[in-house]
Amino acid sequence: MIMPDNDSVQAGKNFGIGMPQKNEGYFLKGSSHLEWGIKDRLSRVFCPKSGHSVMLAFDHGFIMGPTSGLERMDLTIVPLIEYADCIMCTRGALRQIVPPTTRKPLSLRFDAGSTVLTYLNDDCLIDIEEAVRCNAVLLAVMVAVGDRTNEALTIRNLTKTVDLGTKYSIPTLGVTAVGKELVRDARYLSMASRVCAENGAHVVKTYYCEKDFEQVTNACPVPIVIAGGKKLPEKEALEMAYKAISEGAAGVDMGRNIFQAENPIAMIQAVRSVVHDGAKPETAYKQYEKTKG
Ligand code: R5P
Repeated sequence: MIMPDNDSVQAGKNFGIGMPQKNEGYFLKGSSHLEWGIKDRLSRVFCPKSGHSVMLAFDHGFIMGPTSGLERMDLTIVPLIEYADCIMCTRGALRQIVPPTTRKPLSLRFDAGSTVLTYLNDDCLIDIEEAVRCNAVLLAVMVAVGDRTNEALTIRNLTKTVDLGTKYSIPTLGVTAVGKELVRDARYLSMASRVCAENGAHVVKTYYCEKDFEQVTNACPVPIVIAGGKKLPEKEALEMAYKAISEGAAGVDMGRNIFQAENPIAMIQAVRSVVHDGAKPETAYKQYEKTKG
């Protein structure tokens, strides 16, 4: 039997008497009282220094099929991954094209269901053990506030995801799906975001709106990341990211405005400068042009 060698055991001397133990606060809003594992995972998504994140979304195929820019994800997405703080995708894409050596935190698309060809948001959830196997750090689920047919179902999905994720300390990302008949204004977006947060989402993904976006971020007690939405000219997409961050967003979860850009690698780097370094849109656009060149 191996016994510890008594001679080499040194008596403790530095007890820091008189120095209260450090109690660090936590950098993300609404997250101070969360469990250690959840905080650890959120700290991998959001940079503790800037408090911000550039998430790269390429989960569109699960409802839209081979979206422009995602036809061959091995060619278009894999080269972008190194510039992202976090990737957001389905379990299919993860296993099919994401090299397990990338070491990027994963926001896993945790719901699955109907496509754009039928009625959107009639979704079910995948298995929580699948999320554990994939080492997910966030579980992303769609919430369709105001959708007469699927609102209750998607809110149930969200609460179920929070319950399941909490068992394993995996936080939930509530994704607000805005139906065609709804208006993406501050009133609607703040309601949808707040509904997600109150039902337990640890992070909310919603859209940017030109007017009163600050009301959306202020009324949401957890960090908000914005989706990019349809492809815009690169300069406008950088302006949107800049305004969103200046008005209280904690980051972007951007897809088409990155992978459909003329030069996606240059674009994701420019977005990073805006999100993490506070670069003005003009500066970031110049950077984009330079890198592109
Ligand atoms: C949509 O189903 C997905 O949640 C996308 O990940 C999300 O809309 C972000 O992508 P984009 O910036 O292209 O809107």
